[in-house]
Amino acid sequence: MRIIRTTQALRTWRRRQDPPGTSIGLVPTMGALHAGHRSLMQRARRTCQTVAVSIFVNPLQFGPAEDYRRYPRNLSQDLASCREEHVDLVFLPEPDTLYPRDFQTTVAVSTLAQRWEGEHRPTHFQGVTTVVTKLLNLVRPARAFFGQKDYQQYGVIRQLVQDLDLDTRVTLCPTIRDADGLALSSRNRYVTTSQRQRALALYQALSAGKAAIGRGMRRADPVEKRMAKILDTGHGLDVEYLACCDARTLEPLARLRGTVVLLGAIRVGGVRFIDNLIVRIRQ
Ligand code: PAJ
Repeated sequence: MRIIRTTQALRTWRRRQDPPGTSIGLVPTMGALHAGHRSLMQRARRTCQTVAVSIFVNPLQFGPAEDYRRYPRNLSQDLASCREEHVDLVFLPEPDTLYPRDFQTTVAVSTLAQRWEGEHRPTHFQGVTTVVTKLLNLVRPARAFFGQKDYQQYGVIRQLVQDLDLDTRVTLCPTIRDADGLALSSRNRYVTTSQRQRALALYQALSAGKAAIGRGMRRADPVEKRMAKILDTGHGLDVEYLACCDARTLEPLARLRGTVVLLGAIRVGGVRFIDNLIVRIRQ
């Protein structure tokens, strides 16, 4: 497994990958790797000849009051995970490698990035789209892999790739959960057992929403009420948003049809949790 830390070495590596038919799969991450990240690497391994993983805690996507400094970092374990998943290349830049002192360009997606997460984390997606554009330009992968766990991020990146004519296919991979249903997240390692227990209500609420649609409910309002009721019942948490949306535009729906995504974000103590479920409605 090759480890590259500079953009210059990455460009040299990339030029050597060029023989026709060589497909590169990229898995962008911020490290603290868990089974969710590993599932993306496995998908890349199955579908591409060469698998590249980037590990970079991207300062640009953290708000001023967020956890950039204390975001979990665990390089030796991360590299061991990459080796176990037969990754070919790990790109491991420092912040000033990707953002030298005179850096002054950002890439922003408008409408799709402005709602839901965008309302609660106003500069977040601009940081994500800027770093992902840089990574896609450097690696020029045939495919890039993203998790459903961050469904809006996937939508925003798909839009970015389409709008900027980037030659990469964006693939969505399923959310990996713990046995109790909680979606795996690097941030789960700094929550207490009691916070974790309360956070589970989000998955339970989304599941109840999905079940209600499965039973034939076709208006968003009663589905949202049912989900909100589950979150309301004394879990000691704040709901940031909870909605039935069109899976492509992420616009809230009144009548449910086609592919719907149930999106939610809550805050338990100081920690935010996001989750979502996709429901396909056949009519
Ligand atoms: P990070 O949170 O490290 O996640 C990297 C990738 O792993 C994302 O595509 C995310 O959706 C996916 N992922 C995280 N938890 C998952 C789970 N439980 N199941 C399946 N996939 C999961 O997302 C980022 O980093 C950054 O914003 C990044 C795209 C790397 C840009 O900095």
